[in-house]
Amino acid sequence: MCGIICYKGKKNATEIVTDGLKRLEYRGYDSWGIAFKNDKLDIIKKVGKIGDFYGASKLKESHVAIGHTRWATHGGATEANAHPHISCDKKIAVVHNGIIENFQELRKELEKRHKFVSETDTEVIPHLIEENMHLGFEEAVKAALKRLEGNYAIVAVHEKEEKIIAAKKGSPLVLGLGDGEYFIASDVPAFLKHTNKVIFLDDEELVTINKEIKIYSLKTNKEIKKETSEIKWTLEQAQKNGYPHYMLKEISEQKETLKRAINQDEKEIKKIAEEINKGFGTFFVACGTAYHAALTASYIFSKITKKHINVVLASEFPSYEHFLTEKTLVIPISQSGETADVLEAVKAAKEKKSKIISIVNVTGSTLMRQSDVFFQTNAGPEIAVASTKAFTSQLALLTLLAYACDGKFEEGKKVLEKTAGYTGEMLSKEFGEQIRKLAAKIKDKEHLFIIGRSVNYPIALETALKIKEVSYIHAEGFAGGELKHGTLALIEQGTPCIVFASDDDNKKEILSNAMEIKARGGYIIGISPENNEVFDYFIKVPDKGGLSPIINIIPAQLLAYYLSVERGHNPDTPKNLAKSVTVK
Ligand code: F6R
Repeated sequence: MCGIICYKGKKNATEIVTDGLKRLEYRGYDSWGIAFKNDKLDIIKKVGKIGDFYGASKLKESHVAIGHTRWATHGGATEANAHPHISCDKKIAVVHNGIIENFQELRKELEKRHKFVSETDTEVIPHLIEENMHLGFEEAVKAALKRLEGNYAIVAVHEKEEKIIAAKKGSPLVLGLGDGEYFIASDVPAFLKHTNKVIFLDDEELVTINKEIKIYSLKTNKEIKKETSEIKWTLEQAQKNGYPHYMLKEISEQKETLKRAINQDEKEIKKIAEEINKGFGTFFVACGTAYHAALTASYIFSKITKKHINVVLASEFPSYEHFLTEKTLVIPISQSGETADVLEAVKAAKEKKSKIISIVNVTGSTLMRQSDVFFQTNAGPEIAVASTKAFTSQLALLTLLAYACDGKFEEGKKVLEKTAGYTGEMLSKEFGEQIRKLAAKIKDKEHLFIIGRSVNYPIALETALKIKEVSYIHAEGFAGGELKHGTLALIEQGTPCIVFASDDDNKKEILSNAMEIKARGGYIIGISPENNEVFDYFIKVPDKGGLSPIINIIPAQLLAYYLSVERGHNPDTPKNLAKSVTVK
């Protein structure tokens, strides 16, 4: 949520920062802003996406710039609320990601001496720094940070100072090390074009960037040395590469990403499987799409390993903390590894000394670094706000773990490899065109329902989430047996209802549920290996021993994508949303 990108070096900072902001747009796109320095500090702020601003290339050249793309929390999407925020003397500019919880108290105190121009929590920071400038810029920033409660990743510049100063607590910040040039960003894709050498900042660390970088612990006030890592992601992975949208590109990558997800250290997977089998309680903890992957996997664990896994929404985890002991395994699942609720759950679990084994995509993310053991889903950068390839990768990895718990690691790998092969069949132009035609047919419907049973119940939930978030059609997913307990009342003539009818033990029942809907006028879209008389529209999917949840979600993701496009939206940047949800 909110993206930061800053640069200091020999090249043109305004160009690098505006380009970086475009790459970070998935973190927030309500408004954006940049402060750049020559003999004075220039500030540009605009409402909307930076991608829509054509003057970026005409900004004055500079060698120091800080930029921000915003997902509004405190105060609406206005120019005044856009970052950077500045001090009264207009010499200090600050960009911030996170939430300052005590900003109201601070603002009340500062308002006696400072003029506020925005409704944001962030604006207290430049004023606090200004108050302490008699200590020097670096000490003034430290003094300001001491007053803040909550989460922050901040970067500050001063008109008369060479240094850029950045610090973090609870929100991500990564340094990029180029040849005589430095980058600071919320996420690596912002500067991947220029360097893949990075240092991940940890909480309560401050960095000063001048001709060289120095990192300090805010707890001890001492300089610290940190390891440089090399990021394996390529720039190509972080670009659209000819696709009209990242979402379509990422859906299309799934045959490959599935294979990478199951390419895991066998010994490590088996070791964790053994620990789950020892059985003192295992919790899957996640949000949104990742939660749906966890819920699907809990059915797979139940069937294959006869094990019950507790699946808890990370934001609800505080109500379950009481069961945790040092023998409990907590398995957080997260694409970004920065989701605030997930990190909060991990913190609580660590306090109870439970073991944390995370399933995470982003290298160097906070979750990865806070885990006792981690498995990377290897999906590469996921830029579209709606999660697609990360979902199937999470599901594949969790399924492999379930097979490993049953002593069938090799068999699990084979099933998943087969499934990856089947997904390829659905990524053809013809298949996409069939789904696009369906989208064109139902695009003006107000409501859409989706049903599935067993492993396909969470797939119904995930389908509904995908359709809602990118097309803004109201969609709801249900377990097949549940619709008649109330929601059937909403079915009218022509109401579209997607039915996942896989070749499994639930096929007869789910087809009966489809009949019940059709009898009330519903328009039945069957996603199944075989056609059936109940289907009004049939989408044939492969199912010869593959894993049906992974197979079924592909046409659903495509349908969400084409519904969005047919309705004239940009599926990559749905309204009101942001990629990494770094606030609770
Ligand atoms: C929906 C979506 C979100 C995320 C959720 C968790 O398409 O992307 O629901 O799944 O915000 O994010 P991560 O996996 O980064 O923890």
